[in-house]
Amino acid sequence: MNNKLEKFVDALPIPETLKPSRKNKNEAYYEVQMTEFRQKLHRDLRPTRLWGYNGQFPGPVIDVNRGEPIHVKWKNKLPDKHFLPIDKSFHDLAKLPEVRTVTHLHGGESQPESDGYPEAWYTRNFRYTGPQFKTKVYHYSNHQQGATLWYHDHAMGITRLNVYAGLAGIYIIRDEQEERLKLPSGEYEIPLIMMDRSFNDDGELFYPPQPDDPQENWPNPSIRPFFIGETNVVNGKIWPYVEVEPRKYRFRILNAANTRAYQLFLDSGQSFYQIGSDGGLMRRTVKLDNLAVEPAERFDVIIDFSKHEGETVTLKNDLGQDANPDDQTDDVMQFKVTLPLTSMDRSRIPRYLKRIPSLSENKVKRIRNLKLIGSTDKLGRPLLLLDNKKWMDPVTETPELGSTEVWSFVNCTNFTHPIHIHLIQFQVVDRQPFDLDRYSEEGSIIFTGSAKPPHPNEKSWKDTVAAPAGEITRVIARFGPFSGDYVWHCHILEHEDYDMMRPMRVIDTDKRE
Ligand code: C2O
Ligand code: CU
Ligand code: CU
Repeated sequence: MNNKLEKFVDALPIPETLKPSRKNKNEAYYEVQMTEFRQKLHRDLRPTRLWGYNGQFPGPVIDVNRGEPIHVKWKNKLPDKHFLPIDKSFHDLAKLPEVRTVTHLHGGESQPESDGYPEAWYTRNFRYTGPQFKTKVYHYSNHQQGATLWYHDHAMGITRLNVYAGLAGIYIIRDEQEERLKLPSGEYEIPLIMMDRSFNDDGELFYPPQPDDPQENWPNPSIRPFFIGETNVVNGKIWPYVEVEPRKYRFRILNAANTRAYQLFLDSGQSFYQIGSDGGLMRRTVKLDNLAVEPAERFDVIIDFSKHEGETVTLKNDLGQDANPDDQTDDVMQFKVTLPLTSMDRSRIPRYLKRIPSLSENKVKRIRNLKLIGSTDKLGRPLLLLDNKKWMDPVTETPELGSTEVWSFVNCTNFTHPIHIHLIQFQVVDRQPFDLDRYSEEGSIIFTGSAKPPHPNEKSWKDTVAAPAGEITRVIARFGPFSGDYVWHCHILEHEDYDMMRPMRVIDTDKRE
């Protein structure tokens, strides 16, 4: 594998903004094609085979205003064969077409038929599994507050491969309230879509092979429910650099990696000023030296380069003390403060950003205790489950439309899982540690400390939360504004595909058949 690539030799690409193909007075219509293509990811690599939206990796930015609904037609123009190794032995997936896609708007409050239900996949020839989802033209109402969302593939059983191949992009909702804050904008507002990838010497993407016959090839050490790449890729370049002016910039950071959680810091010792999280602006700006970004989380931050003229600032990833000294993923990208200041920086870092009501005032209709559990399937392969159930088991999470619930994620594994719920934005209530050893020996939850409040940068709207090992992480949400079939899952894509995903049905009690 190719891990001798020189760092910081490619300029950071700024993903293009998607233009509507039609527009009438109250609605814009977009068309997006999923295709296979080659793109140069590093100066010294041959162009890599990828899948992407409209021929771009990552996909184009969909940039909309709050309250302006859009339609997007997501067309599958991909070949019939996957170029990454497919595990056919799992989930009876052999019966399904190898190349199937369905697009999910992560963090979006979408109607069920536009949410990208994993079984609502379709192929190039437009075939469906589920009768309840009959369209590939999705409607996004964009009624929620300004936020950095993202869209990515969500097809049953192969989300990890489709996203790894390149099917992911950013989706921005803007609102007037945010506009008034005078945050850095225009060319001083840059999305940073981070992920890790490994490459073969010929420049092609490397993903660990999967056995066709698990009985023969198991145990195969390369089949583990996680993937960690050897290089960091930002906006489609490996270890890029970007030239900046000595002024403030706003970066919308998205962790689009399959498994990797980033621990970001700046080698200049500078702080990040975090202004937003998954669901939009936070109540107030939080100054941080380290950002712990789990897969699928978004961190909206301001970095001020005004005192660093002429310097080079590296965005680094803290790999922890146990890291292999040869691991090169401790670097992410570089900022070169070499551009002259073109005009006075009038942008601000406001202290107070937004009023956010606290959901803890609401009447809680239901509390659900949901265990995150490690298990094995009948062939002895590792499986991770939510509350001991598989995807195919009947739906058990059925909140009533408009009701408020508390979900407690009891993490009985020895790994942090980023848990994501579709449709809603939630608030983190607290985390409480329990004795993991006693749990594995006798199955009992014995608390070892009192409940800790959420981190300062979690006091806002979130759709993905870090649920650390040996802790109960509680979130509170109001389920709506739509009823119907959605999902909740771990956002480590290797976990999601290997059964750490469950259906969720929001029930409208007024309409119940
Ligand atoms: Cu980002 Cu269900 O996903
Ligand atoms: Cu989602
Ligand atoms: Cu997980």
